Amino acid sequence: MAKKAKTVYMCTECGGESAKWSGQCPFCGEWNTMTEMKAQDTDENDRRRRSAAAPGRHAKANKLMDIETGGEKHRISTGIGEFDRVLGGGIVRGSLTLISGEPGIGKSTIIMQAASNIAKKYGKVLYVSGEESEEQIKLRADRICPDMNENFYSLGETNLENIAAVTEEVKPVLLIIDSIQTMYTQEIDSAPGSVSQVRECGNEFMRLGKVKNIPIFIVAHVTKAGELAGPKTVEHLVDCVLNFVGERNQDLRILRSFKNRFGTTSEIGAFEMGEHGLSEIKDISKRFLEDMEDGAEGSMVTAVYEGTRPLLLEVQALSAPSGVGFARRTAIGFDARRLNMILAVLERQAGLSLAEQDVYVNVVGGFRPEGTSTDLAVALAIHSTFRGVSCRKDTLALGEIGLTGDLRRIQYAERIIKEAARMGFKRVILPRSQAKKLGDLKAAGAISGTESGVSLMGVRNINEAIEAYQK
Ligand code: TYD
Ligand code: MG
Repeated sequence: MAKKAKTVYMCTECGGESAKWSGQCPFCGEWNTMTEMKAQDTDENDRRRRSAAAPGRHAKANKLMDIETGGEKHRISTGIGEFDRVLGGGIVRGSLTLISGEPGIGKSTIIMQAASNIAKKYGKVLYVSGEESEEQIKLRADRICPDMNENFYSLGETNLENIAAVTEEVKPVLLIIDSIQTMYTQEIDSAPGSVSQVRECGNEFMRLGKVKNIPIFIVAHVTKAGELAGPKTVEHLVDCVLNFVGERNQDLRILRSFKNRFGTTSEIGAFEMGEHGLSEIKDISKRFLEDMEDGAEGSMVTAVYEGTRPLLLEVQALSAPSGVGFARRTAIGFDARRLNMILAVLERQAGLSLAEQDVYVNVVGGFRPEGTSTDLAVALAIHSTFRGVSCRKDTLALGEIGLTGDLRRIQYAERIIKEAARMGFKRVILPRSQAKKLGDLKAAGAISGTESGVSLMGVRNINEAIEAYQK
């Protein structure tokens, strides 16, 4: 039954919809983000429901225990280990994945490399580009996947209905849409890239993928400031959201999963951009610590647990007397508010007078770790630069700092310590309760082998940690 089209307002930031216009989004509170759009005569829920059933029949519920999943057989390997891991073990059949990142970061490159591998192993792959001509695609493919086979199809098209028709004809095992901002459907008249087009196309691709059981990759451009917020409106309906980040003038690229219905989130994959496309970096910790100097001031190693593996990182700090006016605090790869908190803790609990010091903190390698396990390393690096104490390269500092200067346990310490041992670290400074537990495990033989060479230095608070790292 056709419904009357009506005007609604949608927030470009969070995708929230409201029948009334207001200057501030009633859902996320952002200002000036509500844009006018026409509601469709068939709403998206109707379509989604219908897609599950044959035309004319209503959907039927199944017993969960009778549903076959096929397990790992349902996964398609991209042929790129790091990519597969971020996806949770490969691409799930019928899934919809959004891969977002700034323009020029390498989204098309990684996806074409994966596409070429899949074409060789599984069958036809259809790469639809609304950004480049077929010649441009071929030129790039020749460079990054010279050994491609006849199963790699490309299509320069932006019309959704045409893409659906070609997909029907080609019957690919994987469909790639590069990018969602260039696609449009005839059903609505707003321009490609507008919030309503992006949302409608996202919906339609999802329907296509689910009905035909074809996994789909959708590329989406986002800017640092998140200006092109359109893709946000499809995040809720896709199965996986991957984000590709890096500095364009450096060659390191990190692929991170933000949402994954088929695996863990916060899983990361590391790549290097080279002349022949992206190559995997298998030992990312080694890469992050490569240029580290022993005995430097203001440099401390720490670790985070990302997805399913530990990652060792160097944190650097520099303090310098500030000129007139207020002291500057700059954090790269670390939360600025947490830096302020740590500075306050150092000031009050450890007696460092930092009020007239500019403080800079940098996580080496352009990586932005999540979580709070890096707190202690940041604090010790600041202490080291301020007091002029040199840091040992074989020491790792782990722990979250509380407002009283106490240290809190971190997750997955045991696995981090194993990784530290593998990397040749000798000492790990960590919260005492955790050190004790791990020490007991060690005594009981639960931790064995190489990691027994690491000495665990349990500390209760920031002052004990400051003493420990100077030993
Ligand atoms: P691209 O995959 O087109 O980025 P996106 O699709 O995210 O916009 O990557 C473009 C950049 O990567 C471009 O600036 C050149 C660089 N690049 C290389 O350095 N080596 C390569 O082999 C390729 C294909 C690209
Ligand atoms: Mg591209």
